[in-house]
Parts: sequence; C-alpha cells; structure tokens
Amino acid sequence: MAAGETIAALRAWQMVAGADEATPEPPLDRPPARAAPPEPAVGTAAEPDPAGGRAGPAPAMTGVRQIAAAAADLAALRSTFEAFDGCPLKETATNFVFADGAPRAKLMFIGEAPGAEEDRQGIPFVGPAGRLLDRMLAAIGLDRGEVYVTNILPWRPPGNRNPTDSEIAVCLPFIERHIALVEPAAVVAVGGTAAKVLLDTREGIMRLRGRWFSYAVSGSGAPIPLRAILHPAYLLRQPGQKRDAWTDLIAIKKRLAEGMPAP
Ligand code: URA
Repeated sequence: MAAGETIAALRAWQMVAGADEATPEPPLDRPPARAAPPEPAVGTAAEPDPAGGRAGPAPAMTGVRQIAAAAADLAALRSTFEAFDGCPLKETATNFVFADGAPRAKLMFIGEAPGAEEDRQGIPFVGPAGRLLDRMLAAIGLDRGEVYVTNILPWRPPGNRNPTDSEIAVCLPFIERHIALVEPAAVVAVGGTAAKVLLDTREGIMRLRGRWFSYAVSGSGAPIPLRAILHPAYLLRQPGQKRDAWTDLIAIKKRLAEGMPAP
C-alpha cells in the first residue's frame, strides 16, 4: 500500500475504532466452542441420518460428506444444505442463512453462526456485528459486494448460545464444500469459533490471529492462505482490541495487493 493510502486507511480505521480507546484491554472471548463435553463425532453410530432413517454405523463422515460433495455448484449446495435435516438447529431457527456478497470474490469471510437479525433476514452479518464488519471492510477499501460472506453454521443457535461440537461437526462438510466451490484466493476466519473449526485446533483466537495459516481446500487439497481476525461482536464489547483487528486487516490488504500468494 502506498503511504498516502495507508494514512487514508488509518483515518478510516480510527473512525471505525473510535478515538477514545487508548489502552488495549485484557483479552476476553467467549469460551472455546469445543469446551463443551465431548459429543459423538459425525460418522459414528450416533451420526444424525440426513435421509431420516435409522442412524447406524457408517464409514466416517460418509453420509454427510457425500451429500455435500454431490453439490456441483453453489446453487446446488444451497438447496441441498437447506433441505438437510441432520442439524437440530434447523428446528429452532427461523431462516436458513447461506451467504452474501460476490461468489467469485477473492476473500471469503467465514463467521460462526447467524444471530437474531441474520435469522430474521436470512442474510449473514446484517446485525450490529455485521455493520461493524462492513465498516472494517470499508477501512481497507472493500465493500460487501467485493467479498463473500458466510458462516460455519447456517442456522442460529437458540438465544445465540455457542454451537455444540456435534452441530458443528455435522455441518462441517458443507462449509468445506462451500469453500471448494467459491475457490477464494484466501479465507478469513471471523472469530475464534470459525478459526478453530477451520484450523482444527483448540487454540484460542488470541493465539490464532496475527499470522497466516495454510488451509487445504477439500477435494483438491490445494493450500490457500487463511487469516483469523477478531470477531466484530467481540470488538463491540471490547473496543480496545480493535487495534489488533486493524493489524490483521492491513496484513490481508497487503497480501491481496501482492496477488494473495499461496502459502
Ligand atoms: N455473527 C456471526 O458469526 N455471523 C453472523 O452472520 C452474525 C453474527
């Protein structure tokens, strides 16, 4: 980025961050999504049967993975996922929330799950956190029409509770297929849950942010860069952390300008 652009972007960011936040506050994030007691993994005898039949022993992940893999394009993935009955969150959610933005975007932002407003509208990141995400994008010269936005889960957990391990596991083949179909140049994991799920780690967001990871795209195995950023909902509660989010966004912008080289 040229110096002038950096200053302009910094000004934009200060508007987002608020000039009254001088001192970073101690990290505070939601409890790790995987802190819940271990639940049956997908592909075990307890795997929800998407076909509605008796759940029986199945080769690991086979059923759901095959359903997701059969989707040849985004439209097919959307309708297959919407019809999928294997995730209990579907029963309590109002709407299925698939994605927003440009399907051919270079950057794919992946959050955790819809909140109340997203559930009402059927569109990801349209509530208070989504509005902050839009301002964060604007600070590095991007808007919603230039990126692709989705979530690990398409259904809102009741009362915005943390999704359980089994809810995440049963939907994982869909987000993996989603990434493979969008073919982004890079993935941005928005918040700790998305970062942990995509990187298959229990490390917290404070350790995961601030560096680049290599993400192996399902099917091809092709590595693409992945960066984790602090979740805008967290930044709304902890505005002192916006400085760290800014650092990550600038790194994303810089790598994008360099053609987003594969790791
Ligand atoms: N938080 C998320 O992670 N995703 C949304 O779509 C909204 C809030």
